[in-house]
Amino acid sequence: MENITEAAVTEFINATVKKEEGHLHEMELFAKENYVPIIQREAGRFLSVLVSIINPERILEMGTAIGYSALLMANSCKAHITTIERDEEMFCLALDNIAKLGMQNRIRLIHGDAEAEVQNLPGKFDFIFIDAAKGQSPIHFDLALEKLAPGGVILTDNVLYRGMVAQKEDVGHKHRTIVNRLKEFLDSICNDERFDTAILPIGDGMAITKVK
Ligand SMILES: C[S@@+](CC[C@H](N)C(=O)[O-])C[C@H]1O[C@@H](n2cnc3c(N)ncnc32)[C@H](O)[C@@H]1O
Repeated sequence: MENITEAAVTEFINATVKKEEGHLHEMELFAKENYVPIIQREAGRFLSVLVSIINPERILEMGTAIGYSALLMANSCKAHITTIERDEEMFCLALDNIAKLGMQNRIRLIHGDAEAEVQNLPGKFDFIFIDAAKGQSPIHFDLALEKLAPGGVILTDNVLYRGMVAQKEDVGHKHRTIVNRLKEFLDSICNDERFDTAILPIGDGMAITKVK
């Protein structure tokens, strides 16, 4: 399986939803040319609308890449955003992009590993976007819980891993560990009484969790 939904459906949605303009559009082109895995358009639209509805005061993002999703969120609400990236090249590109859009006062970019950095962050966040390494999502989710304000929302990207998580046939040795880990993770967050979770077949699969 390569796509979560039929290619024609994704193509239709991507052709229909609002397109980003200016520097955000240039970032999309850069990401495509340089194989940087930024959020897909239909999932990006969902993220934008979601943060504009929730209207959080503080957002935490794990996995910045070039800063695309952080900038999308900054454009869609008034929140202060903290975002963490461990790769130095990505970190520098993100720094540059945030400065180009004059968002330095709204977005705090941290260079480091989410596992080490999150626990040192002061205060709580109303919305947490987990978009770092898929295999680490369960760990990042636990870290997020510690930093989430009461009634907060966690959005975890890439939970269906190109559809392999839903695949009945064996996914093969290379992907088995990560797929099993994601299955266990989804099972646990969907059946935990502390949370309300929905799984959405957009982008690479997203889980949205409201902590009661
Ligand atoms: C899918 S990309 C993020 C895309 C970005 N959120 C967007 O949509 O524009 C994942 C990024 O997470 C970073 N990453 C992976 N594991 C990480 C970790 N443990 N801590 C911080 N960053 C991490 C990778 O270097 C990569 O740039």
